[in-house]
Amino acid sequence: MIQPSQRLNQLDEGVFQELALEKRKLLASGKDVIDLSVGSPDLPPPPHAMKALVESASAKTSYGYTITGLPEFNQAVAHFYARYGVVLDAEREVLQLQGSQDGLAHLALALVNPGDTVLLPDPGYPIYEGSVRLGGGIPYPIPIDAKTLHPNFDLVPQDVLERAKLMILNYPSNPTAGIATVEMFEQVISVARQYDIFIAHDFAYSELIFDNQPAISILSLPGAKEVAVEFNSLSKTFNMAGCRIGYLVGNAEVIGHLRKLKSHIDFGIFLPIQRAAIAALTTEWDGLAPQRAEYMRRRDALCFALSRHGWEIRKPSATMFVWAQTPSGQTSYSFALDLIRHAGVAVTPGSAFGPNGEHHIRMAIVHAPEVLEEAANRIGAYLAIHA
Ligand SMILES: Cc1ncc(COP(=O)(O)O)c(C=O)c1O
Repeated sequence: MIQPSQRLNQLDEGVFQELALEKRKLLASGKDVIDLSVGSPDLPPPPHAMKALVESASAKTSYGYTITGLPEFNQAVAHFYARYGVVLDAEREVLQLQGSQDGLAHLALALVNPGDTVLLPDPGYPIYEGSVRLGGGIPYPIPIDAKTLHPNFDLVPQDVLERAKLMILNYPSNPTAGIATVEMFEQVISVARQYDIFIAHDFAYSELIFDNQPAISILSLPGAKEVAVEFNSLSKTFNMAGCRIGYLVGNAEVIGHLRKLKSHIDFGIFLPIQRAAIAALTTEWDGLAPQRAEYMRRRDALCFALSRHGWEIRKPSATMFVWAQTPSGQTSYSFALDLIRHAGVAVTPGSAFGPNGEHHIRMAIVHAPEVLEEAANRIGAYLAIHA
């Protein structure tokens, strides 16, 4: 029997799989589970995007290989990025991706040699480490400060900084919901320049920032394009997660490297999806502000209801996640298992995001406020007995 590669063996099955199994068991036994474990948006895409998709899907000519992104897609991304004060060369500085996950998963294969050190946020979104391992690199966690939620470079040894070739960062952050400041990005760019480290910034939650705080693209900082690329996506901004379309912007050379790798891997995205994405990126949509307001209502509903049950949680400034310390110091995995089994609420254990995520859980606010209140009441009932 053929064995999996050593490369694959470095990845584990992932807690999501185990939790999904637990959820399936409970559902099969007739129990009801409120699922806060996956950040898949429940809100609808813009109507003009759905219309463009349907129209294009009705055309007989839409079903061939697309090979590369349509030039209009790249132009649409450049148009959209003006909102962040970033000017992009649509041809050279934009690359279409099958979701930002596609680009993130393949990034290290394009940029990293076996044994190269790559700095990653800890806690951080799991594919960053997965990508580095698949590419043969060595991940090194940058501790994320518990208060500012920014990377603490003082805790990264000098020799690691000198060795590192690439660093991946993500603001607004999944899972911590931390947001960037200009000062933070200035420091990141200064570290990158000092130690010759290239930056890949994941900006997937760029339009889910609350309380009138600004969305800052790293590319809006002077000279950033020399040292950085940025991933973004239509999944969260436009609720098109199932469409699988995203993009990489910034440094043209690095974009060229990923473009070359991808030319061997896939043959482009279904044309109607590209048409829907172009419509979403280029049409002024009055749904973005109400969408942010809805996530804020959900955040407030969940945090307030949990605080009524004695669990005080820092309100997130962004994203669709609430990141919380386990109330009784339980490990994140055992707490998450208890919540799904005894409260019928599925959450993600923080340890899935790195060692610094231990003793935390992540709750995705992908339900209406009333459902989140019900989840909080179930958790409260569990805590009253077990905490
Ligand atoms: C931080 C972050 N980056 C990237 C992704 C991948 O998104 P997509 O591949 O749908 O663009 C996600 C999905 O949850 C995410 O949370």
